[in-house]
Amino acid sequence: TDAFTYDPGFTSTASCESKITFIDGDAGVLLHRGYPIGQLAEKSSFLEVCYLLLHGELPQAAEYEKFETTITRHTMLHEQFDRFFSGFRRDAHPMAVMTGAVGALSAFYHDSLDIHDLRQREISAHRLIAKMPTIAARAFKYSVGQPFVHPLNKLSYTENFLRMCFAVPAEEYVVNPVVAKAMDRIFILHADHEQNASTSTVRLAGSSGANPFACIAAGIACLWGPSHGGANEEALNMLKEIGTPERVKEFVAGVKDRKYRLMGFGHRVYKNYDPRATVMKQSADEVLAAVGDSNDPLFQVAKELEQVALNDDFFISRKLYPNVDFYSGITLSAMGFPTTMFTVLFALARTVGWIAQWKEMIEDPSQKIGRPRQLYTGATQRDYVPISSRG
Ligand code: CMC
Repeated sequence: TDAFTYDPGFTSTASCESKITFIDGDAGVLLHRGYPIGQLAEKSSFLEVCYLLLHGELPQAAEYEKFETTITRHTMLHEQFDRFFSGFRRDAHPMAVMTGAVGALSAFYHDSLDIHDLRQREISAHRLIAKMPTIAARAFKYSVGQPFVHPLNKLSYTENFLRMCFAVPAEEYVVNPVVAKAMDRIFILHADHEQNASTSTVRLAGSSGANPFACIAAGIACLWGPSHGGANEEALNMLKEIGTPERVKEFVAGVKDRKYRLMGFGHRVYKNYDPRATVMKQSADEVLAAVGDSNDPLFQVAKELEQVALNDDFFISRKLYPNVDFYSGITLSAMGFPTTMFTVLFALARTVGWIAQWKEMIEDPSQKIGRPRQLYTGATQRDYVPISSRG
């Protein structure tokens, strides 16, 4: 039985070779196709980052225009899909709806399910990136009891998404440019993160030959957990529970007593400040100044919590720093999203990473079905005993 290496949680096992994303966790570096995340967040757009992740290079102007047109052509959902949506309970968690709805895409788009066909793989990648905002916005509208808003393709990817979330028939909707920029940046910050749990789930599901819509639905299911994407929802709930900066020390004492974890803190790979958290904190400042309250009590709690933790031996010795989820909730709340939507937004943005990783795997000639081994610790062989003779 000891012929296999035992590595619970895969802390030291590489599952694949990849050219997409590089992380140096000790230095706090994150590169997509070689480009630092800070530069992409500041200078690029989410759609351009999508192109970069999928194709390996930044697009030329004509390539970008073509890509943008292709994505905007795929934003609509089949009319029958809306009826499928309406079958969910109104109080369903939007992540439950997303898992079901994205899985159901393979029941609607039969013509891009052949994973061996390059063109079909491309179409399903475009469909997923394009339809995710429409599905996410519907999950939101459905939960608040408002009518669905159809995509308006002359808007940018992110503006279109915000409009589908926040426009109501009775009023004209004008996108706030600061909010649109911040939303786009949040999408960039979540676009990919190499072999995290949900991406590994997508690769494992894909390794059996499952269709891309089913694989992404598997990724969404995995992302939902509070140790992963679900942490952004938990982090804001935690800040609300703490309530005021004065209560931070008491809360931190509970973390040190191991009563609960500090959500939005710590990371398997980063043993330094998560470079995404730096940008996220700055975005929170900008959005609060534009549409919220610069003295937002939760932002004050978060900043105090960070200060206390970063100066405490418990966190220093374990190299626990804020991660991407620590400040995202404050920004998303100020934009008008309820906490239940936070992980949905993460899923929307991570879809491109999942699909780029899935494509890379399918196109890798050394790819095999993923099949971890185990160290068996159960009963040795024994004979079956009829129920009447069991003592
Ligand atoms: N609060 C308090 N203690 C912590 C935390 C935390 N957030 N994270 C880790 N620790 C402690 C843990 O108790 C352990 O201490 P000890 O060695 O004394 O038992 C040590 O640090 C190592 O923890 P671990 O659980 O072995 O580390 P891991 O690499 O398995 O876990 C993690 C990584 C992200 C699951 C964990 O840090 C965590 O639970 N964080 C809170 C949830 C969170 O914010 N998740 C979002 C991750 S970033 C976004 C994403 O990609 O999903």
